[in-house]
Amino acid sequence: MRKLLIGTMLSTALTAYAAPSFAEEVEVLHWWTSGGEAAALDVLKKNLEAEGVTWKDMPVAGGGGEQAMTALRARVTAGNPPTAVQALGFDITDWAKQGVVGDLGEVAAEENWDAVIPAALQAFSKYDGKWIAAPVNVHSTNWVWINKKALDAAGGKAPETWDELIAVLDKMKANGISPIGHGGQAWQDATIFDAVVLAEGTDFYKASMIDLDPAALNSDKMVGVFDKMGKLKEYVDADFSGRDWNLASAMVIEGKAGMQFMGDWAKGEFLKAGLKPGADFVCIRFPGTQGAVTFNSDQFMMFKVGDANKAAQLKMASAIEDPAFQSAFNVVKGSAPARTDVPNDAFDDCGKKAMADLAEADKSGKLFGSMAHGHANPAAVKNAMYDVITRHFNGELDSKAAAEELANAVAAAQ
Ligand code: BGC
Repeated sequence: MRKLLIGTMLSTALTAYAAPSFAEEVEVLHWWTSGGEAAALDVLKKNLEAEGVTWKDMPVAGGGGEQAMTALRARVTAGNPPTAVQALGFDITDWAKQGVVGDLGEVAAEENWDAVIPAALQAFSKYDGKWIAAPVNVHSTNWVWINKKALDAAGGKAPETWDELIAVLDKMKANGISPIGHGGQAWQDATIFDAVVLAEGTDFYKASMIDLDPAALNSDKMVGVFDKMGKLKEYVDADFSGRDWNLASAMVIEGKAGMQFMGDWAKGEFLKAGLKPGADFVCIRFPGTQGAVTFNSDQFMMFKVGDANKAAQLKMASAIEDPAFQSAFNVVKGSAPARTDVPNDAFDDCGKKAMADLAEADKSGKLFGSMAHGHANPAAVKNAMYDVITRHFNGELDSKAAAEELANAVAAAQ
């Protein structure tokens, strides 16, 4: 008994003594592991370290964040969540429903986030009226990244319509390169799908991807979308299966592939490789989607932490919303700022276009959450769509069967 008491006293004393060294630490779970992503994350890490906050890194590789979410589930189940977690759209809401997220109300009120963060992002950053996540950026998925030399060799004109796109792809094929750099992973297939659906019109994107209207999901138009996906598959190289997205970007960077259909995190890779927009690569909206934007926003969702870590968590949230950080980070990451009051001066032409397109789409009611990146519907629906899109892309379903399956899978997932 006495021994036990002394042991307890000793461990209490040790805990009390050790506590201050944990006070200024944040443990951060994220999937920013590619060259461009890591360079961007480093901006945040350095800013926090300058404020005396230690950064404990928990990277979980895998574009789109599926693996990161699996790792997070294990940590939360074990009762030991990280301080902050990179998360997308409906995943944030799903975690908030579990009652495990923190509260950023104090810092959000002090810095008046309500006034500067767009409503489309606040819809995910807040739950039950409370700030639970700090948005870092706004990415969008309906982009095409083209190698400039490859484009010049294919006639030099960036495609604006589907037919022009196919003509350029044919020329690139004839020139002996792989026209499309692509990685066969479900989320990458789905990223292209976002753009192909959007090109059929914003009403169709909204009806099928956001409202999940069965008549739109299983429609002739959707059969046409799958036909187009099948057509694009013809321009992908034989080794595409399982390839990481940044390796597909590297193919375009090196001129082995002509173009990549990918969110603007791809620009981070081009910049990291020393390429310049306009001179070495060209950024355009997926043909037929100019004026509309399918967006996703990376947010750092905060988890409930003990008092010892609360101050560091709030410091991190505040550092993320600092306008100077928003500019410095997003210039490197390829995204647009998550605040409306950040000047565009430091951004390159693709970045300026991203910001202008976003503002225009928001104003004209053509800004939609990306299905592929968790901003259109909860994970259950997203995963049901992934499955059908990928099976079709890999030739397991024809277009008609795919549209039918899409409607059925979505209905079952709701
Ligand atoms: C995230 C980006 C990330 C990309 C690839 C997307 O879901 O929003 O920040 O760069 O996945 O990893």
